[in-house]
Amino acid sequence: MELKILTLNEINLAIKDEIASLLRRKPNAILGLATGSSPIGVYDELIKAYKAGDISFNEVTSFNLDEYFGLSGDHPQSYRYFMNTHLFDHVDILKSRTHVPSIDKNSEDYFETYDNKIKDHGGIDFQILGIGSNGHIAFNEPGTSFDSLTHIVDLKESTIKDNSRFFNSISEVPTKAVSMGLKSIMNAKQIVIIITGKNKANALKRLMSKEISTDFPASILHHHPKVTIYADQEAASLL
Ligand code: GLP
Repeated sequence: MELKILTLNEINLAIKDEIASLLRRKPNAILGLATGSSPIGVYDELIKAYKAGDISFNEVTSFNLDEYFGLSGDHPQSYRYFMNTHLFDHVDILKSRTHVPSIDKNSEDYFETYDNKIKDHGGIDFQILGIGSNGHIAFNEPGTSFDSLTHIVDLKESTIKDNSRFFNSISEVPTKAVSMGLKSIMNAKQIVIIITGKNKANALKRLMSKEISTDFPASILHHHPKVTIYADQEAASLL
């Protein structure tokens, strides 16, 4: 696992550059995408690169990590809506090739299908991750099995509280989500994780302690051969 400490702007440009060079090498790459505030700057840089004619998403397929349970795709806080407004609506990706785990089909079969669909496309080439202050990745909360595939999650109080800033009140935050599992994420060929801001300093410190435990889901990334952590000075302040 490689740690790069950069400014926020440098992080966004560096990840954009990695994706741009992947798309030049492999125009039909499979991207694993994340929501939350962490990847927004990367998406902005990708849109700029697309508008400048440097890259095209025309042959790209994407799989998102997670989705709130109970919010439809046109709800402003749904992750489908987030992806449309922060990236998909501004580039030439075909919406039919963008996937967000569905909240409609509540059957075990369906969730297996999400992992199988990723496999059928040849697996995720490049996965972007953020991290929750409690170490969750996607919506894999502490205690999630390292063998987990896409599944329904009961969100922890701390996650509901962290994410309430996007809703009018904490009571509006869904208490369940559908999330790719830790095994689904570990199957990606390459992973970058963005860890920025003072409120992530403890999470980065814990990740860098190298202790691997389901109490801190992101720690499983130590077992992956190709992970880069992109952190800023504030997040790195406790190292
Ligand atoms: C949510 C998402 C995660 C994300 C995390 C951190 O819980 N499900 O995928 O990494 O929030 O979000 P942020 O980047 O806004 O700090």
